[in-house]
Amino acid sequence: MPRYNHNEHYRNLLLRQIPSHCQNALDIGCGDGGFARLLADRLDGTVTGIDSDCAMIERARTETGNQSIHFIEADFMRYSFDEEQFDFITATASLHHMPFAQALEKITSLLRPGGVLAVLGLFREVSLADTAVSVVAAPVNTFYALTRGWSSSGAPVKPANMSLREIHKTVSIHLPGARLRRLLLWRYLLTWQKP
Ligand SMILES: C[S@@+](CC[C@H](N)C(=O)[O-])C[C@H]1O[C@@H](n2cnc3c(N)ncnc32)[C@H](O)[C@@H]1O
Repeated sequence: MPRYNHNEHYRNLLLRQIPSHCQNALDIGCGDGGFARLLADRLDGTVTGIDSDCAMIERARTETGNQSIHFIEADFMRYSFDEEQFDFITATASLHHMPFAQALEKITSLLRPGGVLAVLGLFREVSLADTAVSVVAAPVNTFYALTRGWSSSGAPVKPANMSLREIHKTVSIHLPGARLRRLLLWRYLLTWQKP
């Protein structure tokens, strides 16, 4: 049984966003590399994971035997990928650590035409709707935590600073046509295909 936390819970949902004919993928804020390894199992091509935390990258490298996965220890916002572009870019619980609009702009330039972005993100709870969903989510969360066992990856965490409405507004400016969906367990799913 896979470990349970709010990010792990949605791994399969993210994996279902992999575009057909995907040659390479980038996971931003890859942490211990767990999701990069799942991606590599499903791709014929290469996977790159980038994280600014040296302990996480060291762990990712130690725990990964797969030669098609490459880990970079760097700040995503500052790192230069030269001319490299990707068919699939993912970010789980990491974009709220960065300036959101600038991160979306950088991702746009790193995606190949037809490439797909899939973000599992956090938002700040501000509305009655947020509270109502949390009330429903709480017992579901307790059930999963008790039956599967709660597990933290140990990666650096930070509270979200943008509400879902603010995220939606920024996304509609930078990624026209993107889909933003609230998920039950304190996450949203953002998907976008570059024209
Ligand atoms: C909450 S953790 C999520 C880790 C992993 N994606 C997961 O699902 O387990 C957020 C990660 O983003 C990384 N991070 C934060 N800011 C970053 C940046 N500017 N560039 C690269 N990684 C960053 C942190 O070091 C941390 O590992």
